[in-house]
This record gives sequence, structure tokens and C-alpha cells, in this order.
Amino acid sequence: MKPFLDGLSQCLGPAGLVTDPAEMAPHLTDWRRMFSGPALAVLRPGSTDQVSAAVRLCAQHGVAIVPQGGNTGLAGGATPMGTGPQVVLSLARMTAIGTPDPIGMVVEVQAGAILQRVKEVAAGCGRQLPISLAAEGSATIGGVISTNAGGLNVLRYGMARDFALGLEVVLPDGTVANGLKPLRKDNAGFDWKHLFIGSEGAFGIVTAAVLRLTPATRHRSVALLSVQDLPAAIRLLGLFQDRIGETLSAFELISAEAMRLVETRCGLACPVADGAWFLLVEVASSLDGLAGAMEATLEAAFGAGLVQDGTLAASEQQAQSLWALREHVTEAESRCGKSLKHDVSLPLRRMEAFLDSVRARLAELAPAARLNIFGHLGDGNLHVNVILGETPPAGASGITAMVHDLIAEAGGSISAEHGLGQYRLDEWCRLTPRTGRDLAIGIKRAIDPNCLMNPGKAIPVFSPPK
Ligand code: FAD
Ligand code: MLT
Ligand code: ZN
Repeated sequence: MKPFLDGLSQCLGPAGLVTDPAEMAPHLTDWRRMFSGPALAVLRPGSTDQVSAAVRLCAQHGVAIVPQGGNTGLAGGATPMGTGPQVVLSLARMTAIGTPDPIGMVVEVQAGAILQRVKEVAAGCGRQLPISLAAEGSATIGGVISTNAGGLNVLRYGMARDFALGLEVVLPDGTVANGLKPLRKDNAGFDWKHLFIGSEGAFGIVTAAVLRLTPATRHRSVALLSVQDLPAAIRLLGLFQDRIGETLSAFELISAEAMRLVETRCGLACPVADGAWFLLVEVASSLDGLAGAMEATLEAAFGAGLVQDGTLAASEQQAQSLWALREHVTEAESRCGKSLKHDVSLPLRRMEAFLDSVRARLAELAPAARLNIFGHLGDGNLHVNVILGETPPAGASGITAMVHDLIAEAGGSISAEHGLGQYRLDEWCRLTPRTGRDLAIGIKRAIDPNCLMNPGKAIPVFSPPK
């Protein structure tokens, strides 16, 4: 491998090649410390040309590439697997953010740009990029696009796919495909960028993107409410949709158990009396006058007996404190030791029966395991996580298949927003009909015949041609 590493050193320079084990270590383990694997080196290219040269060299030497952004992914997609020679290719040095066009409402960024930074730049010219995640201080645009991330505002604005107007990508042989067009409308033939959105680095490396921006919503009204059961939560969603639907930006669900974890593990205080569920509701607009509409809607909700208790933020600071409760759920869960993440979506009308079945079967299978349920109710996406603690209890190994089987019965998805990575690939293969699997493998074969782009993630590994 010396000629390979010498070649990389030549094309990337000293800042672009890391082989020191201590410096490599953070790149070889995922955020949850669930996966880790070896790599020959961590590559840190500083430009698209350098990405292209490094990918070409990897292809010549048969070395697989694991693309990595902020390494906040929750499916082990950015962690090497030790299945043959691999390098991690980090986009951390490619962070440039262009000047936004506030009237065309677009901005061009390099793939390593941090989501939060891009949002700040957009806000600086009165626009917004409404992709919101608790990990936005570390997640990169390349990672967000490659996972087709969702987050807290999907019910109003859609997922990452809805913001990627144009992409520049480096293909598995090192060719650069430049599709950095700032166009909202472009039906001139096959729109290849969609292959790269949500495919978790399995087809190539995203090096830059043109992102769609939206008008800034300068006024927001945020409430935390408690309800006694899920049907009440869903009826409340309907009430908001009826009354102030187009301003509804978030409708987030937090179970009483999840709220307790945030309080005990992160030291935050919930100002609302317990129900079985809490809802974090945000309405936002570029026009003032929302508070009145929010108050009237809440009055109707209390009047209809849908809400048990609640508080309406009286200031931006209070709004942020309410949001902190929701945004700390993942952190609180990670402080409880090991957990199983089930990132599911399903029709709202099937949610209550699904959760009842999960509870009943979990009690039989692994009574010592604890459910931590929360998520994006407004988009039908629940995080049905199961806390195992430091030592997995008896029955833990059957939990994921049990949850996923119930999801399949309910006509849902086993990955609403986090992707398959290496975490869910086997489950996806188990539950996906052959036609769907063959289609994915067929496209992978056509684009990456030697299976060198993030093998074992998102798409099953196939035997490359001899
Ligand atoms: P990484 O973790 O580095 O990579 C993720 C995947 O994308 C990997 O398969 C990797 O190989 C690939 N990849 C990364 N960059 C590129 C590139 N330039 N080209 C090609 N492939 C690439 N996700 C949600 O959807 N919604 C949430 O609400 C949410 N909340 C979260 C909260 C917390 C506290 C944490 C830790 C994570 C959360 N996530 C959420 C998951 C995660 O933040 C997102 O998946 C995010 O999009 C990953 O970005 P990243 O830059 O960290 O990507
Ligand atoms: C979130 O919505 O906070 C994350 O996507 C969920 C998780 O940690 O499972
Ligand atoms: Zn989520």
C-alpha cells in the first residue's frame, strides 16, 4: 500500500492525508459509539479536484471509500466496516459558503459546510434554510443531502431532497459531474441528482450543492402541551391544520418517559403537567399577528377537551427553552447506555394500534427494556427507541425484528429519515421484496461496478466483475 499512500500524499498534500492513529480515531467510530472499523488513512481533500484525484487513485488500487461529513449519522453509514482496504474521505476542509441570492432565493455551498453555519448565512440576508436537526451544529450539507435528512420542520417544508436544486458529485472513477444549476424548474431529461440524494454515499461523493432558500419567518409562536392519549394528539394536529395549517412548522411528539429522561439526564425542567404525551407545536410566519391565531386555536383545543395542560412561550427565550426539551431527547437517551433506534413512519390512523402492539410484545420479549418514544408526529415519523442500558437484557436480540415486522404489517417504513447505513441494511433486505432489492443493486452495478463507494451501506454488496 506504500505506492497508494505516496500517491495520495502527492495529490492531497500534508493537510489532506491523515495516517496518525490518534488523529484518525474520531473518524473511525460513529456518534453513538456503536460501530467502528479500520481504515488505511483519512483523506481530507481541500477541493473538488483533489476529491477527484483521490477517488481516481482509490479506484486504481481497488481501495473502497467511506465518505464522511460531520459524523453525526445514526445508522453507521460514515464508519468503515473492515471488509477489505478502505479509506475515510472527510469533507471537513470543504466548507465554503457562497453569497446567497436573496431574490432568486438560492445559495451555493461546498459539501463540508456545517448546516447551522449555512442557516446563519441565509438568515443574514433575510432568508432561511428550514432544515432543523439537533445535530445541526456538526452535520454537514453533504451528509444532510446524502441521508436526505428530515428533522423538525418536514411537515411544512419537506426533506433535504426538497432543498437540493443542483449538485456537484465525484463519481466512483473520479469523474466530476457538475449539476450546480440554481433552477427550480428543469425537466430537461433525467434528473440524476436524485440518485445521490439519500443514497448515503453509495454512488459517489457530493462535493457541492445549490440549495433552495425560503422567505424568513420572523415571527413564531411556540407552545408545549400535554395530552392524555395519541388519538387526542392526532385530533389536535387536525385542529391546527384546519385553523392555521399553512403556518404550522413543527408538531413534535414527546412521550412522558422521554420527557422524564430529559429532566433527569440533562437537568432541564418541563413547565407543563404530565399527560401521557407532550406536543411541541410551532407556528411561524413572515407576517406579524400569529400569536392571536395561536391563542384562539389553543382555546378551541382546551374547549374540545383535547389538551390537559400547556404553556405558550411569551418570549423568544421561552420558545428556545421549550425547544431545548425536545432537542435534548437524543442526548438524554445516549446517557442511558445502549439503545436500539427504530426510525419508523406509518399512516397516522395506524399509529395507536402499532404502539399498543409494540408495548405488549416488548413486555413479553424483554420486560427489562424501556421504551423511549418521540418524533415528528406531524409527518407520521416516530422514533420508537428501546433503551437497553449498559448490559442488554434477555430478549434484546429479537426486539428490532419485532418492531420492524409490526411496521411492515402497518404499511410503514423502517427508515423514515436516518437511512439504512450498516445498521438497518440486513433488515431492509429481509423486508424488501426482491424487485426493490434488484433495482437498487442494478443501479449500483451500473454506477459503481467495483463496489468501491461505501460498500455495505444502503445497498447490499454484490460480487464485482472478475
Ligand atoms: P455523516 O454522519 O458524516 O454521514 C452520513 C451518511 O452520509 C454516511 O453514509 C456518509 O457516508 C454519507 N455522506 C456524508 N457526507 C457525504 C458526501 N459529501 N457525499 C456522499 N456521501 C456522504 N437526522 C434526521 O434526519 N432528522 C433528525 O431530526 C436528526 N436528529 C439528530 C439528532 C442528533 C442529536 C444526532 C446526533 C443526529 C441526528 N440526525 C437526524 C442524524 C444526522 O444528523 C443526519 O443524518 C445528518 O444528515 C448527517 O450529517 P453528517 O454530515 O453528520 O453525515
Ligand atoms: C430526532 O428526531 O431527534 C432524531 O432524529 C432521533 C433519534 O435520536 O432517534
Ligand atoms: Zn428525528
